[in-house]
Amino acid sequence: MSQVTDARLTVDGSASELEIERATIGNDGLSVANLLSTTGLVTVDPGFMNTASCESSITYIDGDQGILRYRGYPIEQLAKSSTFLEVAYLLIHGDLPTQDQLTAFNNRVARHMHVHEGIKTFLEAFPRSAHPMAVLSGAVSALSTFYPESVGRGEYEIELATVQLLAKTAVVIAYLQRRVTGGELIEPRPGGHYVDEFMRIAFSGPDGNLDIDPTVRRALDLLLILHADHEQNCSTSTVRIVGSSQANIYASVSAGIGALSGPLHGGANEAALRMFDQIKEQGDTIEQFVAKVKDKAEGARLMGFGHRVYKSYDPRGAVVKSVADKVLEQLGGNNETFDMAKRLEEIALSDDYFVERKLYPNVDFYTGLLYSAMKFPVPMFTPLFALGRMPGWIAHYREMMNDPRTKIGRPRQIYTGEVERTYVPMEQR
Ligand code: ACO
Repeated sequence: MSQVTDARLTVDGSASELEIERATIGNDGLSVANLLSTTGLVTVDPGFMNTASCESSITYIDGDQGILRYRGYPIEQLAKSSTFLEVAYLLIHGDLPTQDQLTAFNNRVARHMHVHEGIKTFLEAFPRSAHPMAVLSGAVSALSTFYPESVGRGEYEIELATVQLLAKTAVVIAYLQRRVTGGELIEPRPGGHYVDEFMRIAFSGPDGNLDIDPTVRRALDLLLILHADHEQNCSTSTVRIVGSSQANIYASVSAGIGALSGPLHGGANEAALRMFDQIKEQGDTIEQFVAKVKDKAEGARLMGFGHRVYKSYDPRGAVVKSVADKVLEQLGGNNETFDMAKRLEEIALSDDYFVERKLYPNVDFYTGLLYSAMKFPVPMFTPLFALGRMPGWIAHYREMMNDPRTKIGRPRQIYTGEVERTYVPMEQR
């Protein structure tokens, strides 16, 4: 598409110039911020289908070509060669770390893994049947009360909150897994490798030891990398809009976790696995299930399919699918469900309904199979997504706070209610 050089809007015969904001790559933007004062009109864009809410230099997506880059680096390269904490550093600080920088960052995160006893009491207060996303959202918000020295918008506080969120959220999520099996909440060990320590706290026996299968370590690291950021998605936009009121980073991330829990967003990984199970339980053939989805009668959607931005294969989904075979074979995962998922994908991708709407598997379609093979129960899938997304939420909060153009997020509306009524006393209604 050639570059637009000027844009004019004519309202009632009167034209006004609209400023064009340039992107380094991807869609340029048409600034409509002055539209209200010049024309009396507001823009209407439900679901923000066509609205850029900010400038950002963190993540780039080309939805037509299936491209995803963190700070310019293709996701495939990072997935192949990097580690989660290195990617976290990249997203948060803007460049790949040197060895010394990475070692210092890893060590600092490891040092902050210990959580206050009060957090453990807080976690224990929830019913064991509680969904871990609800507990996680509460726990992240509560972190601000246990670590008040990291609450604030100064550089020191934000740096501290950054490592605290990466470190302590990992331990909280591992504890949530541990609660599922009724195990005592064990202490982190200083200096441990991030993924190893997470797995040890989540799965070790009473002696606190766990032999980590290198396949599990690598697969989990990879999944965390793939989830680390995805520009202005629903939960990240939530983090930004909450943070725009100058709420602290814990409150903002806690709200983002709430947004992530929904089945149309991060909750889709849990919903996709439940969907596979449901197809089996109901004894439907894949063709019958696909027909139900197309029929829309029961409101069924193909969970883990479709995306607001990707109109081609989600590159994260492609990486997950490409490693799933090997990982499931080595971990003894559910190959029957994997075969079924692949068949479902094959049928959907050759069906006009999905082709016309450009619906492809997204990252959530296959991840649940890998989490299951690692022995995580289904309700833990979305908390694992949250663990991966933490660096992205932090990076966006920091970027927003450092952007002098940031204003409180406050959309307008098209009011369609009563114009004006006079209060009617109770006895006259
Ligand atoms: N199954 C069946 N039909 C679908 C699906 C699906 N998964 N996704 C979209 N469609 C259909 C819609 O019914 C609609 O059809 P219509 O034109 O006949 O009305 C059309 O495709 C466009 O769908 P929208 O809902 O308007 O697309 P939108 O961009 O608003 O939604 C979303 C994107 C929410 C991801 C959607 O594709 C969906 O619900 N997918 C299933 C849930 C899912 O996997 N979410 C995870 C996304 S990735 C992530 O957040 C990490």
